[in-house]
Amino acid sequence: MRQRLQAEPTIRADLCAIALAAALIIGAPVDVFAQDGSDGRALGDMWQRPTSEPAWTGEDAAAAYALRSKRHKAFMQGGVPPEYRNARSPYPAADRLVGEGGALYAEHCAGCHGPEGFGDGVAAMDLRPTPTFLAFMIESPDLVDEYLMWTIAEGGAQFDTEMPAYKDALDTRDIWKIVVYMRAGFPPANDDAVE
Ligand code: HEC
Repeated sequence: MRQRLQAEPTIRADLCAIALAAALIIGAPVDVFAQDGSDGRALGDMWQRPTSEPAWTGEDAAAAYALRSKRHKAFMQGGVPPEYRNARSPYPAADRLVGEGGALYAEHCAGCHGPEGFGDGVAAMDLRPTPTFLAFMIESPDLVDEYLMWTIAEGGAQFDTEMPAYKDALDTRDIWKIVVYMRAGFPPANDDAVE
């Protein structure tokens, strides 16, 4: 009995060490997002198009960067919520749908993300964080099918951003068509796609 009681604290210390090591391992990639410049600004904000436009380099750049990275952190730590897990596009690289996806993108997304996905739509400048530079971010390894469906369907309310939720506004297939268009590199509308 006595021996058992003595053994317990040792076991607890071991468990604490394991938990700490696990926290450090899980926490390690997250730190990438926490890097700040010496002036408090986030370094190399990959969500924004590099530009000298003053509206894009405001005092709140670090705060905007922190908000943008919330979804990516959640994704790295736990993946997408269960209802979006295994969401797969039925249209992998379907060229014939690029025009259709482009028309849907122009109608629903370009106002904020810009006609070519540069994050420079007419409604963009007033938003903090500003709309993502999707033409660049679409290449990110994070932006797999299930990440895109989750993001576009649920929007940014849960991460305190202005990205709207489209699960009620758009059919799932239409969201996948927009994904086809974005992955095709945001080509300009051609005659076939314009009504
Ligand atoms: C009212 C403006 C607005 C509209 C319209 C809009 N977005 Fe966004 N979107 C944002 C903002 C702001 C962000 C950055 C904050 C965030 O990630 O939640 C964003 C982020 C995103 C992201 C996340 C990028 C990342 O790195 O996680 C994707 C993907 C995206 N939008 C796709 C779309 C698509 C597709 C549409 C059209 C169906 C659309 N958005 C319409 C404002 C908008």
